[in-house]
Amino acid sequence: MVRTAGQRNSCHRSKGTLVNDPLSLFPPGTRLAPDGQIVLGGCLVEELADQYGTPALLVDEGALRMRARRYREGLSARWPDSRVAFASKAFPCTAVYRLLVEEGLGVDVASGGELTLALAAGADPADIVMHGNAKTEEELLLAVDAGVGLIVIDNFDDIDRLERLVPAGGVQGVLVRFTPGIQPDTHAAVSTGQAGSKFGLLEPEARQAIARLRGSDRLRLDGVHVHVGSQIMDTKPFLQAVEAVADLGEFAVYDLGGGLGARYTYTDVPPSIDDYLDTLVTAARQLLPATARLLIEPGRSMVAETGVSLYRVVTVKHGTPTFVAVDGGMGDNLEVSLYGQRFEATVATRVGAGDPCILVGRHCESGDTLSTHVPLADPQPGDLIAVPATGAYTYSLSNNYNGARRPPVVFCRDGRSRAVVRRETYADLMRRDLP
Ligand SMILES: Cc1ncc(COP(=O)(O)O)c(C=O)c1O
Repeated sequence: MVRTAGQRNSCHRSKGTLVNDPLSLFPPGTRLAPDGQIVLGGCLVEELADQYGTPALLVDEGALRMRARRYREGLSARWPDSRVAFASKAFPCTAVYRLLVEEGLGVDVASGGELTLALAAGADPADIVMHGNAKTEEELLLAVDAGVGLIVIDNFDDIDRLERLVPAGGVQGVLVRFTPGIQPDTHAAVSTGQAGSKFGLLEPEARQAIARLRGSDRLRLDGVHVHVGSQIMDTKPFLQAVEAVADLGEFAVYDLGGGLGARYTYTDVPPSIDDYLDTLVTAARQLLPATARLLIEPGRSMVAETGVSLYRVVTVKHGTPTFVAVDGGMGDNLEVSLYGQRFEATVATRVGAGDPCILVGRHCESGDTLSTHVPLADPQPGDLIAVPATGAYTYSLSNNYNGARRPPVVFCRDGRSRAVVRRETYADLMRRDLP
């Protein structure tokens, strides 16, 4: 199948079964080789599987750089005094931090661990924003000592601790996280802006925190922060979030969080980066001081569509339904069992139609399903299966369930590939054991 631009998001008919175009969910530039196998970042999937084994998390480096630029250039063109900070919880791997720092992005971290990774990758501490609803004293000290630019106050204990930890004569920039009472249409587990959320402060408390910080000689209140949730598929909640922070008053910095949805399935239609930025900046021009600095913190929408999970079929159990079991599963992709996220999939060497199958993993749980009713073309043991749009939160949530060795991360670009994280070994599984 030769793909043209016009075929993106399209359907085609093969073997009498109507399917969507699987390649439309892969990073831009993904194509098919003459023998029908997927070529990602210029690399043949069969060669990648031979070289790095399966399961593997493949990242199209060019696509990731392109998304970073689209975000950075798009925001600065609309609002020059601005910064895009990558919400690194979506893919906390040093190579990803390094790449995005090279592309001129700041970093949002949500723990001492993410902070350590960001610093190791060369992030400028001044460009780091530190979050967390339960930041420990150790983490706050790490951030203060490292010179982290902004620490986001989530509760009054953060203020108490920081006032103790910031040395006399020192000043730490802070933002107050506001919980505006906005509930986007997304999974409850990733909805954060509603009343009753464990994150941030509702209006009366947020105003109290602001007043208290204005009187602090060690904490400098730079502004406010809002993040209403993740995988948000319309722009309205983002507009509402800007309206909400505008109501809190005038500040030097407004951090508008992340949350833009990614396209996982044929029917997903998230707003484009441009639509998202237009919404934020149009509202900011109307409601926020023209001199303010704008920050945004995209995570999922930066990385999701640049990653592809590559598996090998271990066994096919024919019947109603037909189960196709691969050599990975909920050890490397928890998005399905945690949030019910749907992923599409294809045989990587025979892209296209087939009978609907249930694609399952190798873990000891019936919930270990990667995709249901997914049309796979005559799947056989040994076939490669590609699951697109797995760049966000899969690496972060990967685990050793059933002694699974976490997969490598492989960057692909211009026909060259390199592992940036190796596969775990069985010895790694015992690495922390004490005699
Ligand atoms: C404070 C904050 N900022 C940014 C993000 C990134 O959100 P997303 O990955 O949906 O862009 C999150 C995600 O939970 C968050 O909690």
